[in-house]
Amino acid sequence: MAMDLTYRPRRLRTTPAMRRLVAETRIDPANLVLPLFVKEGLDDPAPIASLPGVVQHTLPSVRKAAREAVEAGVGGLMLFAVPSHRDAIGSAGTDRDGILQRTLREVADEVGDETVLMSDLCLDEFTDHGHCGVLRADGTVDNDATLERYGEMALAQAEAGAHLLGPSGMMDGQVGYVRRVLDEAGLQDTGVLAYSAKYASAFFGPFRDAVESQLEGDRKTYQQDPANAIESLREVRLDVEEGADLVMVKPALAYLDIISRVAAEVDVPVAAYQVSGEYAMVEAAAANGWIERERAILETLTAIRRAGASVILTYWAVEAIRLLG
Ligand code: PBG
Repeated sequence: MAMDLTYRPRRLRTTPAMRRLVAETRIDPANLVLPLFVKEGLDDPAPIASLPGVVQHTLPSVRKAAREAVEAGVGGLMLFAVPSHRDAIGSAGTDRDGILQRTLREVADEVGDETVLMSDLCLDEFTDHGHCGVLRADGTVDNDATLERYGEMALAQAEAGAHLLGPSGMMDGQVGYVRRVLDEAGLQDTGVLAYSAKYASAFFGPFRDAVESQLEGDRKTYQQDPANAIESLREVRLDVEEGADLVMVKPALAYLDIISRVAAEVDVPVAAYQVSGEYAMVEAAAANGWIERERAILETLTAIRRAGASVILTYWAVEAIRLLG
């Protein structure tokens, strides 16, 4: 016998059509950004063991992948490159013909303004010690000397065709410095996607395989302590004041509270990076039959959107669009 219940929230869950009608959060392909890796000197694309389904591209294969992603409807591409030569100051990161610059030119030539081209602005892929900056004699990272290198990188990447530069080294003042260098060079239209709240995270592990990182030790003197949230609000505020066009929180899934707090505070778009370890975790569990892969992909992306990110960087960008149908 039916009871006299005033409230029956289940009514809104009765059919797929009803659930679709009242869904508060949707994933839009245009908000998804696909990260792509290129390795200098490769003959064929090479799989990355800890990132199943993701490869290190060659220049011709990245061109093709960029085209396919744009046809699928992604909102942007984030480019990373692995140079064949590394040194203490990360020279390949600023050489006009460095692999990241060549990749940008190649991809810009293929897709141009059909999408938003982004490049990671950081020294770690290019240094032989694997740190995100240049080192002092005692081995510590020299913040201000690193800024000068970031300025040179910014010019090289902007000139090669990046629409948005992503300073990701967590150096103090990096956004303001890059902005100033761009403006002084007349590059007012090149934007900055600031990796503002970036944590010293275990979830970057597979990425370090993807870029064959040389790092020994950790990045705890520049990336944030996972214990802190207020610190993120400060980092984000400073980046907005320094001219960031978008701010990013990274990783995403373990930091949904940060995404949510940042989104409530700022008046610029908030991005989140669903990083390599988040991807690998789902892929590994799914490969064992322990979770449903496709549902988990869409659930995590929905959660990141729900927390307040408008833009999401994800290795599943193209696949997620296919799953969304
Ligand atoms: C720095 C950079 C990293 C990632 C993006 N940019 C690595 C790091 O900070 O250690 C990680 C992305 C991922 O794990 O998917 N160049």
